[in-house]
Amino acid sequence: MEVSAIELLIRGRRTIRQFNEQPLSKETIVDLLEAAVWAPVHSRKEPWRFILFMEAGRKQFADAVLHTFSKDELERWGPKLQNDYCERIQAHLLIVIEADPRQREWEDAVGAGSALIQNIQLLAWEQKIGVVWKTNEYNFDPDFCRMTGVKPGERIIGTLHLGYFDQDKIPKPRPRTPARELLTCISAAGGEEQQ
Ligand SMILES: Cc1cc2nc3c(=O)[nH]c(=O)nc-3n(C[C@H](O)[C@H](O)[C@H](O)COP(=O)(O)O)c2cc1C
Repeated sequence: MEVSAIELLIRGRRTIRQFNEQPLSKETIVDLLEAAVWAPVHSRKEPWRFILFMEAGRKQFADAVLHTFSKDELERWGPKLQNDYCERIQAHLLIVIEADPRQREWEDAVGAGSALIQNIQLLAWEQKIGVVWKTNEYNFDPDFCRMTGVKPGERIIGTLHLGYFDQDKIPKPRPRTPARELLTCISAAGGEEQQ
């Protein structure tokens, strides 16, 4: 059977951590977001908003990350990160969700937000734009949130770095466990498992 375009896209997408410096426009990212918001949502209210750092605005993001570092980390990683975050990586995108103390509402919002992030990753991959989805400690740091404009009562569910990348630097896939090994299928009366 011929493999569909969407299956090829899902299987072929890789997380990209090494970007090149080819410029990526705000319009391109906005177009990705306009399509990605068609993710499923389980509430009348779409739970997300986005904060994008590009061009000279990347310094604000880098400063907020570096602010969360210890003295040792700053010495070790500071100059490289400044360069990566302000020069090499074209865009940093925070996916922000309104916090909800009710477990089901919160999990629904994170679920919808995760679907949206995967939409972004797939749409970007189709255009040869790389993405890495990060849940680093700084996402949970109140100072980082304040310095990046995340409001009280909001939570970051993902920091995405976006940019173009060299096609010969696509990482090898981590193997996946075949789904059939993870599947319990009850297809007979009495709950007997069928192979
Ligand atoms: C919820 C979530 C959080 C992630 N957080 C990080 C992260 O903090 N840092 C990172 O380098 N990659 C992160 N990733 C990317 C994974 O490491 C990556 O998806 C995994 O290695 C599989 O690689 P692939 O996306 O190329 O298939 C995250 C992925 C998910 C789904």
